Amino acid sequence: MQTGTILVDKNVNKEETYSQAVEILKDGGIVAFPTETVYGLGADATNPDAVAKIFEAKGRPADNPLIVHVDSKNSALQYAEELSPLDLQCMDAFWPGALTLIVKAKPDQFADNVTAGLSTVGIRVPDHPVALNLLKRLPFPLAAPSANTSGKPSPTLAEHVYHDMKGKIPLILDGGATAIGLESTVLDMTSEPPVILRPGRISQEQIENVIGKVRLSSEIQGNAPKSPGMKYIHYAPEAPVYLIENDPALIEKAIQHVQKDGKKVAILSEHEFKTADFHFPLTAETLYASLRKCDLMDADMILAAVSANVEKGDAMMNRLEKAADHKWFC
Ligand code: TXA
Ligand code: MG
Repeated sequence: MQTGTILVDKNVNKEETYSQAVEILKDGGIVAFPTETVYGLGADATNPDAVAKIFEAKGRPADNPLIVHVDSKNSALQYAEELSPLDLQCMDAFWPGALTLIVKAKPDQFADNVTAGLSTVGIRVPDHPVALNLLKRLPFPLAAPSANTSGKPSPTLAEHVYHDMKGKIPLILDGGATAIGLESTVLDMTSEPPVILRPGRISQEQIENVIGKVRLSSEIQGNAPKSPGMKYIHYAPEAPVYLIENDPALIEKAIQHVQKDGKKVAILSEHEFKTADFHFPLTAETLYASLRKCDLMDADMILAAVSANVEKGDAMMNRLEKAADHKWFC
């Protein structure tokens, strides 16, 4: 299969930007599109055969449910039931935006493989003109996980999607770099109090200012992971990633230690280290692009300079800990 790209650029409100994507999606195909967080790989959430193509293209385990994207709160209300005042307050406060709400799904609305057989669904209204323009032209919601190969860093550029999906999907809508660069906050509204299953740009504090107490899943001990996606290794480039305290002397020593064995080391950090073989910036917006560059450069080891004292529930630290499998360089 040939993978085409449509560069949106100034044509964000033009009909022809979307016509091919709409046709493919109505026909049960899959299309990659930008959101404000990362690129998504979309399919008709009511069509099990279309949704199966997402799992196949990504190599995603079938027990990991997909996020459903809708164009408005009103659309969401069609697909969810038993919504509480807190659910509605979250929708009003944060949508369109980078907050996915886990709510009870109305029966028989979605293909079973979207929710991996759960009675709940993760749903959000993306805050991106291309995603919204596409959704408004479709008579169904879009199931859309991040458009990367399963286990790899999520795509923040159309080039990343092309790298992972070429030959596997017919079309990518290229809307440039995504603004946030990390996936949405996932908030389980079916728990009491609600639980943040995945931290993101929308913080615990912002949510608590709207609906009162919420908990972080990392603080709840002894529970089976409620978000099935949490149990899989994520965001990992080819080379091993280690966290390292952001202390220049310590990092210089680490660089020498790795290079002594003839290995190439990439540093992800705010400030440049001239002795490192490669240096890439480390911010929430650039993390995934930097991890992917480490792969392109064939780095043997990646050191990510962070502070061990970062706030609990920090989204970038959460992704880095997963990429490093919680390993610290010492
Ligand atoms: O920012 C985002 O959320 C991006 C863009 C494309 O919207 N999408 C995304 O989707 O990150 P995905 O599929 O890569 O991540 C979905 C996460 C997984 O951790 C999954 O386990 C969890 O949401 N999830 C989905 N439905 C769920 C449910 N019913 N209950 C618990 N967790 C759920
Ligand atoms: Mg993902």
